[in-house]
Amino acid sequence: MQYEQQIEALLAQMTLAEKIGQMRQLHGTGENQKTLVREGNLGSVLNVIDAEAHEIQRIAVEESRLGIPLLIGRDVIHGFRTIFPIPLGQAASFNPDLVREAARVAAREASGAGINWTFAPMIDIARDPRWGRIAESCGEDAYLASLMGVAMVEGFQGDDLTAPEAIAACAKHYVGYGASENGRDYNTAWIPEVLLRDVYLAPFHAAAEAGAATFMSAFNDLNGVPTSGNEFTLRQILKGEWAYDGMVVSDWASIVEMIAHGYAADARDAALKGVQAGVDMEMASTSYAEYLAELVESSTLSLDLIDDAVRRVLRIKFRLGLFNQPYANAAAAESLLAAEHLDLARQIAKESCVLLSNKQTLPLSQNQTKVAIVGPLANHAAYQLGCWVFDGKPEDSQTPLQAIRALLGDAQVVFAQGLAEARSTDHSLFDEAVAAAQAADVVLAFLGEDAGLSGEAHSRAFIDLPGAQLALIDALVATGKPVVAVVMAGRSLVLGELQDKVQAMLYAWHPGTMAGPAIADLLFGLDNPSGRLPISFPRTVGQVPVYYNRKNTGRPPSEDAPSIPTGTPLDPSGFTSSYLDVDHRPLFAFGYGLSYTTFEYSNLRLSSPKIGFDETLSISATITNTGKYAGSEVVQLYIRDLVGSMTRPIKELKGFQRIALEPGQSQEVTFELRSADLSFHNNAMQKIVEPGEFHVWVAPSSIGGLQATFELTR
Ligand code: NOJ
Repeated sequence: MQYEQQIEALLAQMTLAEKIGQMRQLHGTGENQKTLVREGNLGSVLNVIDAEAHEIQRIAVEESRLGIPLLIGRDVIHGFRTIFPIPLGQAASFNPDLVREAARVAAREASGAGINWTFAPMIDIARDPRWGRIAESCGEDAYLASLMGVAMVEGFQGDDLTAPEAIAACAKHYVGYGASENGRDYNTAWIPEVLLRDVYLAPFHAAAEAGAATFMSAFNDLNGVPTSGNEFTLRQILKGEWAYDGMVVSDWASIVEMIAHGYAADARDAALKGVQAGVDMEMASTSYAEYLAELVESSTLSLDLIDDAVRRVLRIKFRLGLFNQPYANAAAAESLLAAEHLDLARQIAKESCVLLSNKQTLPLSQNQTKVAIVGPLANHAAYQLGCWVFDGKPEDSQTPLQAIRALLGDAQVVFAQGLAEARSTDHSLFDEAVAAAQAADVVLAFLGEDAGLSGEAHSRAFIDLPGAQLALIDALVATGKPVVAVVMAGRSLVLGELQDKVQAMLYAWHPGTMAGPAIADLLFGLDNPSGRLPISFPRTVGQVPVYYNRKNTGRPPSEDAPSIPTGTPLDPSGFTSSYLDVDHRPLFAFGYGLSYTTFEYSNLRLSSPKIGFDETLSISATITNTGKYAGSEVVQLYIRDLVGSMTRPIKELKGFQRIALEPGQSQEVTFELRSADLSFHNNAMQKIVEPGEFHVWVAPSSIGGLQATFELTR
């Protein structure tokens, strides 16, 4: 409440037109925008940087009547100039400290360009890999996404939003956008309220608690009401139940899109519904500018709602310290691609890579090996950056080919791309790739999706390796040389066939600027893979949505069902909840990832077999590195509530710790559980905790691990 008096004093001086101006955001800085800013009729711009940002900010501060500075927003999603892994990759690091640092660096670099607000983090829970925006998400799990979202908010904003390197965060897309039906972007979402509260809202609540300065309402229709006109989620839950005092911006034109949704009759009606619902600022479209004055003057819309919205916009501007320092952080402009930024990008790229399979092939030796490097992503400076990269430049990228040549020397590397493009179906370059393989001891095939196959409006109905990539692998495998696949992609892909053909698979997502050095470090054993999957990998798109914390059903499938190759017709194996032609389980489970070393879990201990509601349960286990290499393990804590007044998921992640162990070294890991960690919503929307029996696992993934039982008593 630090700035409330200043806000009131300013509000008292504002005309209705100036108030409405604060509720508008336009793209770019044309003459129209400059005139509007000068007249006090525009509160924010997006997609403007450097000199243009300075000039339009100068006009706001020096030439407008009240000198109110602008919010200058941009999509700084996974880095500004130094590009970090896509958010889904960052989530795979299971390392919130690194994720916080990456957001800090992104904010520092962006602040140097005059940006004071990023449209991130995206914390939509995503369980459908067809959806192109899964790349921007932190995956399928509310606990992991909450931790990662909070880390990003803390990174962007720091402890003090007025600090020169801090920028405002924006928790988006509120809410349910990731549940778009059949993975088609912008599609309808139907989410029962218990699921909404337990899963989809949870990361947003965490972000609000962490002080996320702003929220963005979404494009989608949620349970029959578009989220940008949804009084229930915006006014009742966010601004009511959670007492959120920050501001809400719409998504791009999502206010007027309520007309196409069939929820608003026209732009006037859309503006009315947007403000009534609690969207404080309209992005890109102009319905607020055109209709709010008349709506207030005709007493259709209360001035109180306008004042509430304007207070929220001004509050963010005060919190950012823009009235004192509205301009770019000049010192940070020098920091683009600083050595420590690139080191961090390399580290987080390494920790985000997930080793999916390894038939004792990796790590490769740097000495003995002549390496054939093939594949459309081996040397593609732009693809490795992934989607949503406005300011990252391909020329800054260090590609795998460059990094491996630098590590081994040119003489040990033969390069033949094999496919001109990721989606290419033309086999004409295969012969060259086969010749390269024949001349080498091992083939490193860089496969996956180009950056244009994920992101906004980039959904896929098939989630296989695109183009002729599998055919290229067949040609390479036919040489008899061991083939290692490194896959870069913006989603989980269907990988069963590839797994059968190759000796090892390293999943790198789109790793960013430092993809090459990070991957080279891992392939040649300078470091050890430690990423874990933040989403389940389906065997076939027909299993989607597949996620670990599902319900058991009344006829659960056997958890040790035989592994059925995709498409093999089967006799029914009992009337259980399974498929006739594919194993019901994912190919790779949530939380899964291999290492070059092995970890043994032992000695699971609970502080007590029973705890009361006010008590804390300590759960400990010993983890031992039983292999030959130093490595990091992500030790995961899962629970299952066995009987509830609402059925409970078969597993729920409640904690994880990343630990580094030398060969032979052991460490005791301890987690604490409180009764609040066991809570869930019932159908009356009460958050409840129920006494009873629970299973608890300390585990290397959502499958397996050590299991014990405890009881929660009144
Ligand atoms: C639309 C996207 O949905 C949103 O995530 C983004 O921040 C805005 N456009 C602004 O670019």
